[in-house]
Amino acid sequence: MKLKLIKGMRLVAATHNPGKAREIATLLKGDYVVVTAGSLNLPEPEETEATFTGNALLKARYAAERSGEVSLADDSGMSVSALDGAPGIFSARWAGPDKDFALAMKKVEDRLGEIGADDRRAWFTSALAVAWPDGPAVVVEGRVDGTLTFPPRGDSGFGYDPIFIPNGHTRTFGEMDPVLKDALSHRALAFAKLKAALID
Ligand code: IMP
Repeated sequence: MKLKLIKGMRLVAATHNPGKAREIATLLKGDYVVVTAGSLNLPEPEETEATFTGNALLKARYAAERSGEVSLADDSGMSVSALDGAPGIFSARWAGPDKDFALAMKKVEDRLGEIGADDRRAWFTSALAVAWPDGPAVVVEGRVDGTLTFPPRGDSGFGYDPIFIPNGHTRTFGEMDPVLKDALSHRALAFAKLKAALID
């Protein structure tokens, strides 16, 4: 079976995060009818895998099985070099039940302070998985490297955007025009790979 995404088809975006849903819809440039797992009242599975790709596949398969439609999921996060890659797959969980990213960013700053690290290198990873209801699935990964800055700057974007400056730029993702972020983000890089694999 040849796995392809046909323009105009319906795709379930297996996310309950409105920031991600907006970026996914923008990156698909209106070529697909995107409905979110949240709007279909699909529950969120527990992310039990140890890698971004594992969790993206788990979420895409879960949504495809329950919706009976082709589903796309992203698992992403920020990894800090001096913290051995933390928060990584736990990026959302560092923000606690209230999804308080001011708290999560403070935690990153505090942990770096505790170990006295000068190394401010960090990267975002996005794994994207597409699953078909009858079983097959494809997964790709994109990464963007940068450095951290404190205190947080800028209020566009979401999550850890205000402390992350991508290499070659001076503004944080939180200060950047979303159009520019969408063009160079980890999610955009993963989408380019996904398009090369699945879209003619
Ligand atoms: P998950 O993929 O839903 O498990 O959560 C990933 C978490 O990583 C998000 O809740 C954000 O905290 C963080 N994250 C992922 N992508 C971005 C981004 O583009 N900017 C800022 N934070 C991000």
